[in-house]
Amino acid sequence: MTAPLVEANGAAIPALGLGTWEATNDACIAAVQWAIEAGYRHIDTAARYGNEEAVGQGIRASGISRDKLFVTTKVWYEDLSESNLMRSAEASLRRLGLDAVDLLLIHWPNASIPLKETIKALGRARRDGLTRHIGVSNFPVALLDEAVARSDEPLVANQCEYHPYLDQSKVLDACRRHGLAFTAYCPLGRGQLLDERAVVEVAERHGRTPAQVVLRWHVQQPGVVAIPKSANRERIAQNIDIFDFALDEDEVARISGLARPDGRMIDPSWAPAWDKAA
Ligand code: A2P
Repeated sequence: MTAPLVEANGAAIPALGLGTWEATNDACIAAVQWAIEAGYRHIDTAARYGNEEAVGQGIRASGISRDKLFVTTKVWYEDLSESNLMRSAEASLRRLGLDAVDLLLIHWPNASIPLKETIKALGRARRDGLTRHIGVSNFPVALLDEAVARSDEPLVANQCEYHPYLDQSKVLDACRRHGLAFTAYCPLGRGQLLDERAVVEVAERHGRTPAQVVLRWHVQQPGVVAIPKSANRERIAQNIDIFDFALDEDEVARISGLARPDGRMIDPSWAPAWDKAA
C-alpha cells in the first residue's frame, strides 16, 4: 500500500513514513528495504541516529528510483551555526549516498545559537541544492512562529513527538496556521499505547491491529504525517496498511481521551522547556 500525500507549502509529503531512530546496521538496511517493498515512499533519519549509511544502503538495495522517494534528515542541535550546518548537511548526503535530501530539519532548537543564523543557513542549504525543502523539529509554538517569520524560504514541516497520550493541539494549530505539515514521531507512544483498552476495543471492532488504529488516528487529522518505527518486516507492512478504513468521530474522541499531563516521553534536559502555552 502507498500513502496519500500531505501538501505543505509546496512540498508533497507521504502521510506515512518509516522512522529509523534506534535502528542501526543490518537491521536498519533491512527495515528500509522492507518498507520500500511494502510501499513506503518516505524514510526519516538524522545525522544523530548514526544510521544514514545504512539508510542509504537500504534505499539502494530496494532498487527504487530516487525521484519516487521522500528522504528526510536532520542537523543535530550542536551544529546549528552557519558553517557547521552546511558541513553537517554535506556529511549527511555523503553518508546517505544522495545528491540531495527531500527535507532537511533542525533536529532541536538551541538557545545558545541565534535562530536567525540557523534559519539563514537552512535557507542557504536549500538554495545550494542540498535539500529540496526545509523545516524544523521539536519547535514549540513561539519558536515556530519566530522561525517562520525569519525564514526567506518556506518551511514545510515541524516534526514533534505526538501520540494519543500527548495533546499537541497548540503546536498542530500553529503548523496549520503556517501551512506546515505536523510530522508525528513516536506515533505509537514507543509501543506503549498498544495495550490500552480503548485502542484494543476499537481495533477489534474494525478487525485491525492496535497499531493500525493509532496510526489511522494520526493520518485522519488534516496535515498530520506519522513516522512509526519498526524493525520487523510484518509490522512494517502492517503499519502502512491503514488507508482503506476510517475511525468515526466517537472512536477518534475515545482515543484522544487517552491524553494525560505526563504524556510526553522524549524531553531531554538540555532542550528548551515546553511551556504550558505550547
Ligand atoms: P518493533 O521495531 O519490534 O516492531 P514509535 O514509532 O511510537 O516509537 O514505536 C516504536 C515501537 O513500537 C517499537 O518498539 C516497535 O517495535 C513497536 N511497533 C512498531 N510497529 C508495531 C506494530 N504494528 N505492532 C506492535 N508493535 C509495533
